[in-house]
Amino acid sequence: MKILVATEKPFAKKATDGIKEIFSAAGYEVVLLEKYSDKAQLLEAVADVDGLIIRSDKVTAEVLDAAKCLKIVVRAGAGYDNVDLAAATAKGVVVMNTPGQNSNAVAELALAMMIYMARNRFTPGTGAELQGKTVGIHAYGNVGRLVGRKAKALGMNVIAYDPFITDAVVFENDGVEQVGSVEELYAASDFLSLHIPATEQTKKSINYKLMMSMPKGATLVNTARKEVIDEDGVKAAMMERTDLKYVTDIAPDAVAEFAELLGSRFFATPKKMGAETAEANINAGLAAARQIVDFIENGNTKFQVNR
Ligand code: 3PG
Repeated sequence: MKILVATEKPFAKKATDGIKEIFSAAGYEVVLLEKYSDKAQLLEAVADVDGLIIRSDKVTAEVLDAAKCLKIVVRAGAGYDNVDLAAATAKGVVVMNTPGQNSNAVAELALAMMIYMARNRFTPGTGAELQGKTVGIHAYGNVGRLVGRKAKALGMNVIAYDPFITDAVVFENDGVEQVGSVEELYAASDFLSLHIPATEQTKKSINYKLMMSMPKGATLVNTARKEVIDEDGVKAAMMERTDLKYVTDIAPDAVAEFAELLGSRFFATPKKMGAETAEANINAGLAAARQIVDFIENGNTKFQVNR
């Protein structure tokens, strides 16, 4: 078996070493394609591999067509919107993610971003504290729950909304108040932490109306996906409401315009760094390698996302 690890944004060395060890113990060959700049390099590298590990690397129908022997793709991470699931299914390729493995790193970044904005991006002057403020968690999955727990430890009031969780006990167990709608969530959140995936339903769903409904001085914190933001709507709301702030780990398409129009009320990391910790790389990378071996040797499809 031949496995390709294709990571435009490479894993920490400890993670790639661990991945190599897992595959070598299984008797598989491993090839690394890191920091590639051209899609052609990926198309060439996938040609003869049986398995593929990726991060936010795009696995399009073209890539799947070029991968003649491919059986499995594992996205080492949570969101798999970078994989053409329909094309993979049509080709009989199993797609998996590694849910929860990098969540702590992303949750820590979300809290760090809140503090960064509350302290005026570490420029001199009077800032604010998180303690006593309300944080709204939009989608209560692995990352959302961790943000909630950590926020409680900082003395924040935590409220949450998740359309897919109907069991109130999930929220009660964490001492989190479950609100009944997205509108209610935004209207009550001094900080709004986004954890929704990019799907047909969620794309451009964070819009002018939701931003305008937020309390005075509120901050939108995006460690999810840029696609869920209605850029024109959010920009317009922030031009009208000069008290609002937006901090994101995924730069908007119009990042230059956001920066120019909104000044210090807007900040985007230069490159997505939520899962960029050695711990997250090791957790997600090794889980991906183990899932590939378990699938090939035992047919385990527990984490398959294209059933
Ligand atoms: C995820 O979906 O797991 C995160 O967005 C991390 O993405 P990355 O592996 O490209 O850092």
